[in-house]
Amino acid sequence: MFFPHFYFRKLCLSQFLMMRGNHMIFFDENSKIFYLENESMTYAFGIRSDLVTQHLWFGKRTGHDLAYDSYFDCAAAHVVKFPLDDGTFANLNHVPREFHQLYTGDFGMPSLMLERENGVRRFDFSFRDYQITKEKAPIPGMPSLRAGGGSESLSVRYECDGIFVTLLYTIYEDCNVVARSMKIENRSDTPIYLNRAASFSFSLVPPQYNDMACRTADWTAVYLSGGSGSETNVQKTPLSRGTFTIDSRRGASSASLNPFLGITPRETTETTGTAYGINLIWSGSFTLHAEVTANRCLRLSGGIEETGFRWKLNPGDMFCTPEAVLAFSTEGLSGLSWEYHTLYREHLIPTSFAKKPRPVVLNHWEATRFNYSGDILRQMVDATSEIPGIDTFVIDDGWFGKRNDISSGLGDWVVNEEKLGTSLREFSDYVHKKGMNLGIWFEPEMISEDSDLCRAHPEWAITTPNYTTLRGRGQMMLDLVNPEAVNYISSAVNRIIRDSHIEYVKWDRNRDSSEGYSPSLPPDQQGEEDVRQTLGFYSLCEKIINENPNVLFEGCASGGGRVDAGMLYYFPQIWISDQTDAHARTFIQYGASLCYPLSSHSCHVSRSPNRRAGHVIPLSSRGDIAALGMLGYELDIRDMSKDECQQISDQISAYRRDEPLILEGRLFRLSSPAESNYFAFELVSPDKTKVRITVMRQLELFNRTGMRIYPCGLLENAKYTCPELGISRQGKTWMNYGFTPEFSQGDFVTDVFHLINE
Ligand code: DGJ
Repeated sequence: MFFPHFYFRKLCLSQFLMMRGNHMIFFDENSKIFYLENESMTYAFGIRSDLVTQHLWFGKRTGHDLAYDSYFDCAAAHVVKFPLDDGTFANLNHVPREFHQLYTGDFGMPSLMLERENGVRRFDFSFRDYQITKEKAPIPGMPSLRAGGGSESLSVRYECDGIFVTLLYTIYEDCNVVARSMKIENRSDTPIYLNRAASFSFSLVPPQYNDMACRTADWTAVYLSGGSGSETNVQKTPLSRGTFTIDSRRGASSASLNPFLGITPRETTETTGTAYGINLIWSGSFTLHAEVTANRCLRLSGGIEETGFRWKLNPGDMFCTPEAVLAFSTEGLSGLSWEYHTLYREHLIPTSFAKKPRPVVLNHWEATRFNYSGDILRQMVDATSEIPGIDTFVIDDGWFGKRNDISSGLGDWVVNEEKLGTSLREFSDYVHKKGMNLGIWFEPEMISEDSDLCRAHPEWAITTPNYTTLRGRGQMMLDLVNPEAVNYISSAVNRIIRDSHIEYVKWDRNRDSSEGYSPSLPPDQQGEEDVRQTLGFYSLCEKIINENPNVLFEGCASGGGRVDAGMLYYFPQIWISDQTDAHARTFIQYGASLCYPLSSHSCHVSRSPNRRAGHVIPLSSRGDIAALGMLGYELDIRDMSKDECQQISDQISAYRRDEPLILEGRLFRLSSPAESNYFAFELVSPDKTKVRITVMRQLELFNRTGMRIYPCGLLENAKYTCPELGISRQGKTWMNYGFTPEFSQGDFVTDVFHLINE
């Protein structure tokens, strides 16, 4: 076996210790295989004698005795090893690689595409060295997972003529995930172009391989799709040969397709079987590919959206991809969700908020939209302050500049005192005197043509030379590639937050990107615009959110147009949809829960009949469904009867009692509203002593038998009492025998059950 002299550098002490001690990353010197493993999972790849990095395994824990004589090589027995001295064409097409490259004999979806100034696009990378550390370096300029939870990181470096590619891996003791990203450095003396740079790639062998089998689909893709008002609806698609892609080219992760992709064998259910997940810590345009090859392997890759992407890497420059979180579970989709929920609560969402009770807000937007004055808001504050439990009043869009509709004012972050009748500080004092905190709405990434900001700095709006700028919701986008624009906006927003004693911010984004052009980039860097715009957004977050560590920031993008893990790094919660109809919401909350913890779903009770759907839904049902996330209200409290106000107050007290379950409980999705007449969520406390089950029956159907609920995740031999049913049973009886809820009459009615072990 030939290895160049630089093949294995002298190991540093930490590497040595990790290989000896009880560590999670192990390198087998003989086979040249890396094992990343925790108690229940192994991710393995190796450096073959031809220096190709071959993926070997991701799944249940294995021993340290994997080999390259795996399925992949058998299936490609005709493969000619690479490189051959006589230059014979090398076929790497069947080899699962940790990064796939075109023009090397590998014809699958490439994860890395580079180009020299002279047009040459072939790069033959060789393994150079590796490092194992306890630290996890942040990815410059963008969010990524924090170290902790016994994490360990591995970086593996390759080189071709002064171009270095580093694959970065992190593994955690407390979650079955591998976080991956890639770094490309130009240490040569000429510029190169990056035309594609995926965060990860790996392959899965068919679950039950048999070369006589004629199955068309070994795997199912589970993903989240929709639009404004119907976000994160679960889709399931069998994967046949060819490439299945989900993506966004909207400059945000989008309501249309979310950057989460679940992969399961056909047999997997909610609670049983293998499930894989991919989720990007990235809030911009993205691509995720699942390619079923001719030999039925599933190649997965993805990261930033590649259409139009072209990044100039000058000598000395470096490009880092966003982090992808690859998760694995043997407990079906609910197990997969648990991996993501735990990981994000422990290692992504700001620790000061992740597991802490959140405010219960009253937001006036659905009640008034732009039609309000200071007097109306004060009346609402007065009425809200009469309801024990609502602790934050939020002023939504329209309080600043000259903004009475969508056509003007964005960028002018100065309070409209004429409309409010006072300064914002005085209004804030009024709210505080009434015993509540104040929240406020911003849309920092946008600019209206009719704004003082645009008149002063037209060059800060994204426009394309010689073209009419495309408006979305009547507005243009700020050029966040331009640091001057970022600095100006962050100072203006910070001034308002500081001077007016704001405790909560709703950060909105109400249009998709267009133009593909940044006025502040030179012509040969325009292909960087889309990614740089997202990096500009993150730098704005750094400057605003990090400056105000005690303020709770809620993300929003025309509802759920940017629900992703990149957001969760800054925003502990996200307004997941403008759809507040409790029935439609069950579909949205069900889907969002696949990857994102309930503590990150902001959910409000709104009026009935619903403004969008027209459904008439009891206040109790609206409250029960909104209480499966961060509860709030979007009502005109002035119109509410005494009884209704009392009901709201009772709802909030019940919510506060169960809040630990919503913040930290393990979720079991007992029934999908898309697959049955019932929606049912069960939350189990980490010590399994408290359980809350929420069920909604969609339609009252005549003479039907109803549904049977089989709770999950209980202690088999412990006794649980259900106060609502007045029954005590053993955990195993509840789980195996189940119970049938009885609903009151009507459509869209809910029932809530608790199981308590004392
Ligand atoms: C879209 C958001 O989703 C709404 O809740 C509201 O804040 C409006 N924007 C305000 O323009």
